[in-house]
Amino acid sequence: MIKKNITIAIDGYSSTGKSTLAKALAKSLGYLYVDSGAMYRAITLYALDNGIIDDKGLNARLLIDHLPKIHLNFVMNPECGFGEIFLNGKNVEASIRQMTVSQWVSPVAAISEVRRIMVSLQQAMGRSKGVVMDGRDIGSVVFPSAEIKLFLTASDDIRAMRRYNELSGNGADVTIQSVKENLMARDQQDASRSDSPLIQTEDAIAIDNSKLSIQDQVDQILTLINNRD
Ligand code: CDP
Repeated sequence: MIKKNITIAIDGYSSTGKSTLAKALAKSLGYLYVDSGAMYRAITLYALDNGIIDDKGLNARLLIDHLPKIHLNFVMNPECGFGEIFLNGKNVEASIRQMTVSQWVSPVAAISEVRRIMVSLQQAMGRSKGVVMDGRDIGSVVFPSAEIKLFLTASDDIRAMRRYNELSGNGADVTIQSVKENLMARDQQDASRSDSPLIQTEDAIAIDNSKLSIQDQVDQILTLINNRD
């Protein structure tokens, strides 16, 4: 039995099943789940919709100027039991998953001014603990004193297949090759940026879930939490 509310930080490369695990953990613990990647994706969608990203590329300066006009919040969807992301009052949970957003999100997330705002929103959401948050810098920057830090990995082919199934299941016109290329490109950009690069902190537990079921992972982590209580 879990005795007190703690913070669980889940980081890892693209499409390693972070959000699937985070949601399952949040459900079994009765915790809040926060998808920090959705926030960077929503800002990217705003940039695409407002001509801040066009054929010439991303205008970082213009995006920084627009930041005060971008309002993000999560609204609970009682049907699935998790918060969905709203961008300036509009539910964008589905549109942030499109490939164009995936293609541009890493350069947007590399902008320090963007990160500073996102991190403070994320910290505010986790202030009362009892939170599972997934992303790239959760254990390193957002919640460096999280009681449980996990770093997920899975083989490149398995990650590409999982994301391809997810996207094509939702009707997207994508190929496994294009999905894989996007994952690899984002991994490279996320791990090499100068502000808050993706890293495995020393105190994070690495889990390769290539061959693990979601229930195996949840059981493993709940045991870990119980043992530290
Ligand atoms: O595709 P996947 O679910 O793995 O990624 P995501 O969690 O939706 O995150 C999309 C992108 O947002 C990442 O590739 C990073 O560039 C950025 N991100 C970040 O920089 N920091 C976070 N805490 C979360 C996401």
